Amino acid sequence: MTGGAGFIGANFVFNWSTATGDPVVTLDKLTYAGNLDNLRMVQERKEHLFVLGDIGDCALVGALLRQHHPKAVVNFAAESHVDRSIHGPEDFIQTNVVGTFHLLQEVRGYWEMLPAPERTRFRFLHVSTDEVYGSLNPDDPPFSESTTYAPNSPYSASKAASDHLVRAYHHTYGLPTLTTNCSNNYGPFQFPEKLIPLVILNAISGNPLPVYGDGMNVRDWLYVGDHCDAIRCVLEHGRPGETYNIGGRSERANIDVVRTVCRILDEIHPGSPTVPHEKLITFVKDRPGHDRRYAIDAAKIEKELGWRPKESFETGLRKTVQWYLDNQAWVRGVTTGEYRKWVELHYGAQHQPS
Ligand code: NAD
Ligand code: DAU
Repeated sequence: MTGGAGFIGANFVFNWSTATGDPVVTLDKLTYAGNLDNLRMVQERKEHLFVLGDIGDCALVGALLRQHHPKAVVNFAAESHVDRSIHGPEDFIQTNVVGTFHLLQEVRGYWEMLPAPERTRFRFLHVSTDEVYGSLNPDDPPFSESTTYAPNSPYSASKAASDHLVRAYHHTYGLPTLTTNCSNNYGPFQFPEKLIPLVILNAISGNPLPVYGDGMNVRDWLYVGDHCDAIRCVLEHGRPGETYNIGGRSERANIDVVRTVCRILDEIHPGSPTVPHEKLITFVKDRPGHDRRYAIDAAKIEKELGWRPKESFETGLRKTVQWYLDNQAWVRGVTTGEYRKWVELHYGAQHQPS
């Protein structure tokens, strides 16, 4: 698993190793978004090995593949935050485009050397996003697997480029690839630069809840555990060369998401400095090029593979708010930067990434 110390990757490492008992090697560069504490539930398991490194480091990736002989590679590693891509696109090109290219090259070299039955069974699963399809108008049908790519931010353009490389490696070299395009995730271990954890943590500290523009931009929301189940399903049963859209059928305007978090907190955390929490909502300057609406048609994965989300937006959000309230040590580590000090202590200052 690459990028397994990030939000979705860490949830997936736990999900996969709990469900299958298979050994897992997690390769992660530990950027600001990577946190070894996210892997605490698997770190003690003898089946799990963490390796600090970059997906773009061909020598390291090639050596890991030969040494550990994986039956699949799942690529979560990416720069993932749209706002950061607007301020500094360079890292997005390096990791999401160049890094994915190098990873594909090494995986292809490894796969070509496998004995025939293992070559047939091998899978490269690339985790991507619905943002590659661009923005929808209110009455447009949701994104399907055949929707034309129209990325609008440096982040989504870099993910679109990586998706195209994955497609090309299947088409040209026959690499058994799978690509998943998922909507907005939320749940435990999400870095609080993204809307839902940011709003939860600001609300319980009595800080403003920044809503971009008019708050009417729409996203489709999926609980991270359901995304992990979907990836596992695609990895085990998906058809090589195919792409699968994953979504929660839970379209919400941002302002409604923020209000729902506030209402849950009013109920389960009445001791906050400002109650009702809605008083903290503050409309701020819009994100440049802000996509208006995303929506996913998940009919293909539902019909072909029988996957369906278990959580509704309301049940998943309640679990998530409770998780942030119950995991104040994790929150402190992330908000004070303590988790990064540990990386420096453990791996040395020369490995401290930007
Ligand atoms: P994240 O930012 O929380 O985690 C990314 C992880 O990748 C971090 O642990 C980071 O250290 C690691 N990483 C970054 N550059 C690396 C490199 N060059 N080499 C090795 N590791 C590197 O991201 P996330 O939200 O968990 O997203 C994971 C994947 O899922 C991404 O590919 C993202 O595009 C995709 N995705 C995310 C969402 C979402 O809502 N968060 C939705 C759909 C798809
Ligand atoms: O759609 C899938 C994508 O979802 C993933 O590919 C990305 O990796 C992930 O970051 C997410 O992208 P978004 O830009 O949709 O997520 P974010 O949490 O940054 O923002 C969600 C919405 O909330 C978006 O319309 C912008 C808005 N927003 C965000 C922040 C951080 C605010 O109104 N205020 C904020 O402070």
